[in-house]
Amino acid sequence: MVSAGSSAPQHPFGAGDAQEIERHKRLAARAAAELVQDGMLVGLGTGSTVAYLLEALGERERELGEARFAATSPATERTAQALGLEVRELDELGKLDLAIDGADQVDPQGWLIKGGGAAHTREKIVAASARRFVVIVSAEKLVGALTPPVPLELISFGVQSTLRRLEHAQLRAEHAASAGSERVQRSPDGGLIADYLGPVGDPRELAVSLSTTLGVIEHGLFAPEMVSLILSGSENGVESRPGAKAETP
Ligand code: 5RP
Repeated sequence: MVSAGSSAPQHPFGAGDAQEIERHKRLAARAAAELVQDGMLVGLGTGSTVAYLLEALGERERELGEARFAATSPATERTAQALGLEVRELDELGKLDLAIDGADQVDPQGWLIKGGGAAHTREKIVAASARRFVVIVSAEKLVGALTPPVPLELISFGVQSTLRRLEHAQLRAEHAASAGSERVQRSPDGGLIADYLGPVGDPRELAVSLSTTLGVIEHGLFAPEMVSLILSGSENGVESRPGAKAETP
């Protein structure tokens, strides 16, 4: 069984609200772009909020001439390169100074759900490779408690047996899938994308349980200790909230 579309939560917003949300994403993204300086090694996330970040970095492309970027998806890589940013393999860059990415949900403790864009495994690797990980969201992503879906990347071998072990998960259909065809969304590295639909409860317990389920490559729960800073855009401007990540040398 394949579920349709993105894992991002559905919001009861109208078109005007949708425009406001875009404006708020852009505010947060532009504030994060100011953290990038010439010579830095920077990880770039994936998604519509990151698209605004790329736009802002592209405007400063000359000023950032010696900065180097690692992308978390082919889409981000293509856009960054088209804007004149120097994209390299993560392993070529080594330890990053900074990584910036969006999120689907952020809870009061700083737990994130990511992976609406099917790139959470690469995003987690890039975030963990950075001294500072900055999250950029519109304020409607700030939630009282995380709710499903939680994106998953699964090994394709024996996927039905992995789904049975997970109990509450289903494969995610590709956006472009035509009616009747059930093509499963894949990560840039070939893993199958699924959504865990059971209760989240304590995110730490769920993260451990998902991580230790055979066949799960990675899940979209990001612990507060991964996050340095959360920038949320709203009608009041950009609010900045520290995460629980300790500064690393
Ligand atoms: C992609 C992600 C995105 O950061 C997340 O889905 C938020 O996307 P958007 O900025 O488009 O709302 O985790 O895998």
